[in-house]
Amino acid sequence: MRAFSYHIPTQIEFGNGAIARLPEFVKALGGSRVLVVGDPGVQRVGLIDRVQAILTGASIFNAVYADVESDPATRSVDEGTVHGKANGCDLVVGIGGGSALDTAKAIGLMLVNDGNIKDYVGIGKVPRAGAPVIAVPTTAGTGSELTIWSVLSDKVAKAKISVGSALNCPAIALLDPELTLSLPPQITAATGMDALTHALESYVNTATQPISEAMSDQAMTLIARSLSKAVADGSDVEARGDMLLASTIAAMAFNSTRLGLVHAFAMPLGAKFGIPHGLVNAIMLPEVMRFNHLANPRKFARIAEIFGEKTAGLSVEEAAALSVSAIEKLKLDVGITAKLSNFGVTEGRFDEIVDEAMLSGNVPVNPRQPTNDDMKALLRAELV
Ligand SMILES: [Fe+2]
Repeated sequence: MRAFSYHIPTQIEFGNGAIARLPEFVKALGGSRVLVVGDPGVQRVGLIDRVQAILTGASIFNAVYADVESDPATRSVDEGTVHGKANGCDLVVGIGGGSALDTAKAIGLMLVNDGNIKDYVGIGKVPRAGAPVIAVPTTAGTGSELTIWSVLSDKVAKAKISVGSALNCPAIALLDPELTLSLPPQITAATGMDALTHALESYVNTATQPISEAMSDQAMTLIARSLSKAVADGSDVEARGDMLLASTIAAMAFNSTRLGLVHAFAMPLGAKFGIPHGLVNAIMLPEVMRFNHLANPRKFARIAEIFGEKTAGLSVEEAAALSVSAIEKLKLDVGITAKLSNFGVTEGRFDEIVDEAMLSGNVPVNPRQPTNDDMKALLRAELV
């Protein structure tokens, strides 16, 4: 068996109503002055107020930075860091979707490290541990609550930049399914497809290893059971709990393995055309699976089985092919019918999209190595 490494430094706390335990975790981490980081959406639904009330009720000082935009710019990190330093904050509570959590993590780093977050783009470039971060996800998809990554936008270059470091993993992922109950169906669907893409791409790629494989298998099993339910009935707290867990477990898989072509496409398509991350993954996933499935048929046959396809009596290749139709069916079930052209993508832009996608670290681990023409064919298949 190939040598591998698996490391997750984040403590995971799961439970309905778990947000009430926030003061206990702040104290356990030695925090005394908390910077609460969120986005305007989270603030609008009253979650920032709720977190502040919980902290203030336990006599813990807190300041708020709630101006994180979606596809957050490095500017959000700069502003949050200045605000945190001005208030002497020594711990960050990030609450929200992937953008809020990615920003909160980066602010945690920058409360301690010198320079600008842009100095640390890449993997393993951050020199010192930051202020501890407690990450409270309110969507079930990105897995940012325990990944090494902060994905930020360089609005000038119209490109996404990624800071990846074990020091960027939150100290605690606080998973409270009740906080996801108000998520609208379209966002539940798109973020759920992001979690699925994480689990699936990690599962079939060439960097996968026994521990991450087990995580991916479990995450996909939870998603098969509960994504459609959570979209159809947002108040189904069991389904919400499954999806929140699935998202976190999928991140425990891909944190050690990277992903694949879907995520390689997601960066330029997100940065240049503003397609929401979960949606762009949902758009590209089945077509990339069709391209990949014969490179690792045993794994794709297992995916078909997880998603309820009858594989008995079929060859492993026939079973593998059913995984593609199973995911296409799921995508329709959760109401995703968008195509790339809906977001202004045209054939004339394929070269620049493919050139940028091919630079991604997610390409070399993909089960099948694509040519530039293969990549364009994948885009063309999802254009209209
Ligand atoms: Fe993703």
